[in-house]
Amino acid sequence: MRNCPMKIAVLTSGGDSPGMNAAIRTVSVAGIGRGHEVIGIKHGYAGLLRGDTVKLDGAAVDGITRLGGTILGSSRCPEMMTPEGQARAKAKLIEMNVDALVVVGGNGSLTGAHVLAQGSPYKVVGLPASIDNDIGHTGLAIGVDTAVNTIVEACDRIADTARAHRRVFIVEVMGRKCGFLAMRAGIAAEADAILFGEENPEEEALVERLRAVLRKCFGPGSSKHRALIVKSEGLNLPPGRLTARLSEHLAEDAPGADLRETVLGHVVRGGNPTALDRVIAQRLAYGAVTCAEMGVSDVMLAWEPNFPVGKRSPDPSVYIVPIGDVLNETAKMLDSSSEIVKSRLALLSKVQDLFAI
Ligand code: F6P
Repeated sequence: MRNCPMKIAVLTSGGDSPGMNAAIRTVSVAGIGRGHEVIGIKHGYAGLLRGDTVKLDGAAVDGITRLGGTILGSSRCPEMMTPEGQARAKAKLIEMNVDALVVVGGNGSLTGAHVLAQGSPYKVVGLPASIDNDIGHTGLAIGVDTAVNTIVEACDRIADTARAHRRVFIVEVMGRKCGFLAMRAGIAAEADAILFGEENPEEEALVERLRAVLRKCFGPGSSKHRALIVKSEGLNLPPGRLTARLSEHLAEDAPGADLRETVLGHVVRGGNPTALDRVIAQRLAYGAVTCAEMGVSDVMLAWEPNFPVGKRSPDPSVYIVPIGDVLNETAKMLDSSSEIVKSRLALLSKVQDLFAI
């Protein structure tokens, strides 16, 4: 156990995700409750470089668990990718007398956390937060569940109007290179087809596959009045292009139907976190405070990993994984060589022909 009290700093970085505030509050209440001082660093690594901080006490974090976004602000900070920026950030943490830094963010943020942890007197603990669910060795990242629910709600609404007008909708969702949001939300929303970049399909083959789906949905004997295609932004084919290609044959494949596209964009990243995201954020953040107290550094707290690595914490759903391992696995997820990506693709390939009926 480290000497008490510690000065704990928390920052949120990269694309915000619902549940970040729940993590900030838990670091604060657990930290203060156990006798530590807690400060927030504003606007991610950019704020760290400027020394832009705020004291976090009970009043500052009261009622924030239910809020989307992040009360601390966030940023993508190109300077943190340079050796000079990284050295300045390390010096700033030492100048501020920080004993432990909790970094809440995605791949880029955790890369920064890993660098900051090397040979430093303070401890660094990461919490995975990104709607994309593209962070290695965690079953879910903070924000994913809310994003999935937001997409499902949007698709349900679109289905209402689609059915009223006998329409095919292509709905594009965020996720960067990772198709997880499209896969999970698409299944929950009764999509007729789910498209994601990991498959890396040829345009012609994809168009033929979708034409077959439309013929199934609107062909003789089908009483369907709508078709839903959920497309991940990671599939490198603009929705407009897909719409144009399918429109060429629409009268033949889906007689009497129209075709529309909707890009959900940043709508998917906002909103109040679901109960699950709040709970994940709270339990991971509590684990971060206890890790810092035990003097553990350069680790990320992971939520129910599919193929567990690292060490299970006293909380059975929370694992303690070296950030270096997380970054290696994340790189494999991004180039689709990870076992978890392969298993997602294998599962989907077994069922995706059953979606359209
Ligand atoms: O990583 C989260 C994410 O929302 C991705 O899904 C998306 O591709 C990207 O961030 C958008 O980033 P920005 O808000 O900087 O345009």
